[in-house]
Amino acid sequence: MIDRNTLRPVTGDGRRLFVETYGCQMNVGDTEIVVSVMQREGYVYTDRIDEADVVLINTCSIRDNAEQRIWGRLRELRGLRRRRPSLLIGIIGCMAERLKERLVEGEDAVDIVAGPDAYRDLPRLVREAEAGGKGVNVLLSNEETYAEIAPVRLDRNGVSAFVAIMRGCDNFCSYCVVPYTRGRERSRDAATIVAEARTLFENGYREVTLLGQNVNSYRTGDVDFPALLKSVAEISPLLRVRFATSHPKDMSDRLIETMASMPNICRAIHLPAQSGSTAVLERMNRKYTREWYLGRVEAIRRLMPDCAITTDLIAGFCGETEEDHRATLSLMEQVGYDFAYMFKYSERPGTFAQRHLKDDVPDEVKTARLTEIINLQNELSERSNRRDIGREFEILVEGVSKRRDDQLFGRTSQNKVVVFDRGGHEAGDYVRVRITGCSSATLYGEEIL
Ligand code: SAH
Ligand code: SF4
Ligand code: F3S
Repeated sequence: MIDRNTLRPVTGDGRRLFVETYGCQMNVGDTEIVVSVMQREGYVYTDRIDEADVVLINTCSIRDNAEQRIWGRLRELRGLRRRRPSLLIGIIGCMAERLKERLVEGEDAVDIVAGPDAYRDLPRLVREAEAGGKGVNVLLSNEETYAEIAPVRLDRNGVSAFVAIMRGCDNFCSYCVVPYTRGRERSRDAATIVAEARTLFENGYREVTLLGQNVNSYRTGDVDFPALLKSVAEISPLLRVRFATSHPKDMSDRLIETMASMPNICRAIHLPAQSGSTAVLERMNRKYTREWYLGRVEAIRRLMPDCAITTDLIAGFCGETEEDHRATLSLMEQVGYDFAYMFKYSERPGTFAQRHLKDDVPDEVKTARLTEIINLQNELSERSNRRDIGREFEILVEGVSKRRDDQLFGRTSQNKVVVFDRGGHEAGDYVRVRITGCSSATLYGEEIL
């Protein structure tokens, strides 16, 4: 087969590719790059695993249970292959990077193993596997950003999309595996980011989320993150702009001022605290104190009183005392988080914590502390939702409600989901809504006519 655009022979020949994605939003974005690279080679994407010739699993190593889930899935896929011996199975992403040896040889071996910086090489790796060999590339790069590869949008709500602006991480938080699986931090060329966001807008998208492990340290030439954010927000006042994730140590006043100056930059900041205890934060190598963190929250609230603040928290990190744990609970109360992702500490091989600190909080204690954290957050989330009752918000409609097809759902600038009667609206519209009620996870509202 010949690619009609480049007149280059391609090898996929209509063979079908299925990709399953685990882990963070970066992985969701990477899958879209992978599909783009493979389509150029003549592979056709299918969302039905039973008709695929090649199945790739885009994996996550962040916690042990994330990896266990993927091992379980891999066993199921082997069952599928027994029935269809020509099926090729590949592991890509963070687990491929972390566990290359185990995935190349022995009982857990798969046909294709590709790390996060090796996706341009995937067509060759798949060819090797098709020829009966193994396709393996886990080289990390200091430059790869896939800058000019147009991702194939798989989510298809046609309204909101992720745009990766950087890769890797240099922060080396002592518990975290990401700097090892994704390599050094590098920023993507600003012009390609703005061009991608503009194309999305021209194709009807109304929201982009700029993605990186620490977007606040974005830099190319003299473009830093506030400057980039402004350029994307200037594409149109009708384009909402979000970003994730912000490391508190780099949350600058200029960024907060830039947000406050443009109403289409969403009033939502994900600011992972991890712990409320300065002693624990120090062992985590987070490079800020509780007081610094609270100072950043104050600065946000000063300039944007209506800004939602959400977080990530880890229960039971090495050496965490009952008092440290109480400090996390009191931080939560003090900030009044609108939402949080909450985890039990999971020791990761190769990290500083695994090599030099003791994972000494017993599992029952971790579980008990996590439960307390979750219970408190449920209360805080509910309080936050109740506060919104009676208020007015502009909602960007994302689609039809799952429960009732005469209702739509969309999000507030603060990133809360609101369900309301359809009226004459459709996905991509902005609608002004007054909140009339709430459940723990959803707001209900009515259109202001
Ligand atoms: N780069 C982002 C988030 C990366 S991972 C940031 O720095 O905020 C997402 C979350 O997973 C982290 O914020 C942390 O709360 C959690 N996490 C990472 N490693 C973990 C580990 N070993 N055990 C438990 N939770 C972990
Ligand atoms: Fe991991 Fe820390 Fe980097 Fe986030 S900033 S990815 S927690 S090392
Ligand atoms: Fe997981 Fe890798 Fe993301 S470890 S959280 S998929 S960067």
